[in-house]
Amino acid sequence: MNSMDKRYVILGLSGLVLCAGIVMLGVGISYFEQSDNDVTIDRDSENYVVNFDPSLLRLTYTRSSDEKCLLSVFMGQSADGRGEMMSYPRIVQSCQESDPVCTTVTYTIGPGQAELKLSVTELSVSDVSQNVKCYETTWSSTTDDVAPVDCFPMSDYWFGGAEMYYQHWPVNSWDKFMSFYLSGDMFEDAQQFGSVLERYWLSSSGVALYVPPDVPLHLSIENQRICFKGAYGDPYKIRNEALLTHWLKYTACFGDSPQVTHDFMFKKYFKRPNALPDLRMMKSPIWSSWARYKVNINQSTILQYANEILEYNFTNSQIEIDDGYEVRYGDHTFDPVKFPNASEMIQTLHDLGFRVTTWVTPFINPRSENYNEGDVNKYFVLNGAGESGRVPWWNGIGSAIDFTDPDACDWYSGLLDDVRTRYGVDSFKFDAGEINYVTVVPNFELFTPMQNLGYYTRHYAECAFRLGYQIEVRSAWDCHHLPIFVRMMDKDSNWSEAKGLKSLIPTALTFTLLGYPYVLPDMIGGNAYEAGFHGTPLPERELFIRWLEITAFLPSMQFSYTPWQYDDVTIKLSRDYVTLHETVVFEELKKASEEYVAGKSGIGPIRPIWWVTYDDVKAFTVDDEFMVGDRYLVAPIVNNGSRSRDVYLPGPTFRDGARTILWEDKLRGGAPIAGGVTLSDYRIELEEISWWELTLK
Ligand SMILES: *[C@@H]1O[C@H](CO)[C@@H](O)[C@H](O)[C@H]1NC(C)=O
Ligand SMILES: *[C@@H]1O[C@H](CO)[C@@H](O)[C@H](O)[C@H]1NC(C)=O
Ligand SMILES: *[C@@H]1O[C@H](CO)[C@@H](O)[C@H](O)[C@H]1NC(C)=O
Ligand SMILES: *[C@@H]1O[C@H](CO)[C@@H](O)[C@H](O)[C@H]1NC(C)=O
Ligand SMILES: *[C@@H]1O[C@H](CO)[C@@H](O)[C@H](O)[C@H]1NC(C)=O
Repeated sequence: MNSMDKRYVILGLSGLVLCAGIVMLGVGISYFEQSDNDVTIDRDSENYVVNFDPSLLRLTYTRSSDEKCLLSVFMGQSADGRGEMMSYPRIVQSCQESDPVCTTVTYTIGPGQAELKLSVTELSVSDVSQNVKCYETTWSSTTDDVAPVDCFPMSDYWFGGAEMYYQHWPVNSWDKFMSFYLSGDMFEDAQQFGSVLERYWLSSSGVALYVPPDVPLHLSIENQRICFKGAYGDPYKIRNEALLTHWLKYTACFGDSPQVTHDFMFKKYFKRPNALPDLRMMKSPIWSSWARYKVNINQSTILQYANEILEYNFTNSQIEIDDGYEVRYGDHTFDPVKFPNASEMIQTLHDLGFRVTTWVTPFINPRSENYNEGDVNKYFVLNGAGESGRVPWWNGIGSAIDFTDPDACDWYSGLLDDVRTRYGVDSFKFDAGEINYVTVVPNFELFTPMQNLGYYTRHYAECAFRLGYQIEVRSAWDCHHLPIFVRMMDKDSNWSEAKGLKSLIPTALTFTLLGYPYVLPDMIGGNAYEAGFHGTPLPERELFIRWLEITAFLPSMQFSYTPWQYDDVTIKLSRDYVTLHETVVFEELKKASEEYVAGKSGIGPIRPIWWVTYDDVKAFTVDDEFMVGDRYLVAPIVNNGSRSRDVYLPGPTFRDGARTILWEDKLRGGAPIAGGVTLSDYRIELEEISWWELTLK
């Protein structure tokens, strides 16, 4: 951009000192220019009114690492002069007064065109006693054709947001154009935000951004900038009565470190589970019929599967009977041809020491016996004509249960209770729940109209939780209070960072950062979709083994393809890793989960490696290692054919800023090594995983 095009205006809100000049910043260099002609500022008692030509304004910003004063910078950017506003209320070094008090500022864009109001308020955070400062920024527009946009340059490393098709950790390299911020099925569209998302981001320098639920939020992350936009229109149909035009509100909080800020944010804005999840699911493997059999299941295949599991001396938390057991999607009952006596089968499975779950979704297809239960239209998401909306999903066209209707939830959970009573099924795998399956219905109508459709997902998960702790869901928004496993979206059987093996660790880290500690990785070896959705080609042995090694250290192990489809070495390895998981790893998972539930730690058991450190910039960039509690660092191989990797051991200082980290090599033994080093080309054979135990000095 030509410097002539740039006009920067910066308002220091400490008494609104208009600053000009070059600002040198802690994490980068930024600058602004100011032209006297473009902006006038009038003092109007408490308010400042700024008149300017929005087509001329641009801005930049960044923050210093040490000063604690707030500077608000704003930008109007538009080719046609009617455009968007951006503000960057951040900490910068050049503010001239200490401890600024923020007041309300009103900016008026061109007389008669539009008016945007901005207010920045320092929040009182004394209810959570930590050294964190928060500023709430509110933009509102007085006309319908101007929507506020507010961006942050990602000059440090950023984490959080959403499960994604390309799951990067950190998220700086996302390339996501501006779109509404609601969960979607990324199998339908790689550009959808994924099934699990929160309006929360955290940066390596201890800045956190939080957007409240009622904001009609759109989001982009492009060119190293994260931008929020607050705009009504589909799918944000219900307007806030107090703010009928477009508006945006968010809170930016600043703490001394990302750990301190994250801990603070979760105490202030989010709940946490009030209990541990089903511990048997955390300890022993789930065995799913899905990847290995797809829809080709019946009573004998399931019993055969169970018998094999026992024959090879594997433990289980449950056997999961996936897609293929019903006659019609939405029946939730067993096909009597494929399962001549399902109750007997389940009794046999119980006798063999298995718990049994079945797969369910929010969809009921029209020919299902449950479609006509009661009033046809009563329990489904409706279209504009008051009829059950047609929802295309991956198994045809059905209707989606409207979980915002308490009666619909009573009915649905009642159906599932009947399944339990009738067959002895123990629990359920709840699939889908994303918002794209609501918005796909033209002129959709929900029983409870909502400003933020994300609540639909929460209602679904809460309805599912009526069935107890032993469930799993795959979509989540504002569900932090539920002590249940949240499953990763189906992974592909390859090494790709797009839903393949390489995405496993970034997804697990994103889930925990978003407040979903009970991470259920997808099936070991992936879903083998390369021969089509219903194909069952055996994933490559090496991929299966590397996948096994990583999930042994994650909060739950799930098999579908079995070790005995490979060879004796794979069987023995699998048993050894299950045993390691059930003993050493489970113990730490349980302990770290208990601490999280009790509020004694700020994050769930699976942690980014930077969580244990202080001032370790390198640690923020590592996306192929993770911590289990504060205790074990895991550095697996995630590349095909590799027998070595660079292992980064973070440090040297523990996050308390005082103690020194030492790493003990659990794979090779030897003297402990001080943190803050990269071990180049560290050898890891196919049957091995590198893991380390942290001690403090
Ligand atoms: C399973 O364990 C039993 C009892 O320890 C043993 O006899 C049997 O050989 C084991 N089976 C396999 C396949 O390892
Ligand atoms: C179950 O499926 C298997 C393999 O497809 C088949 O051999 C068997 O006859 C089927 N059994 C029943 C009860 O349908
Ligand atoms: C199913 O098996 C149970 C237990 O063996 C038996 O009591 C019942 O009669 C069987 N039902 C059918 C329909 O065969
Ligand atoms: C992994 O590497 C092997 C050996 O080079 C190759 O045959 C195989 O196709 C690779 N697998 C994948 C999924 O890329
Ligand atoms: C991974 O597998 C999926 C599904 O088969 C496929 O679409 C994708 O192209 C694969 N990616 C790579 C890098 O092989």
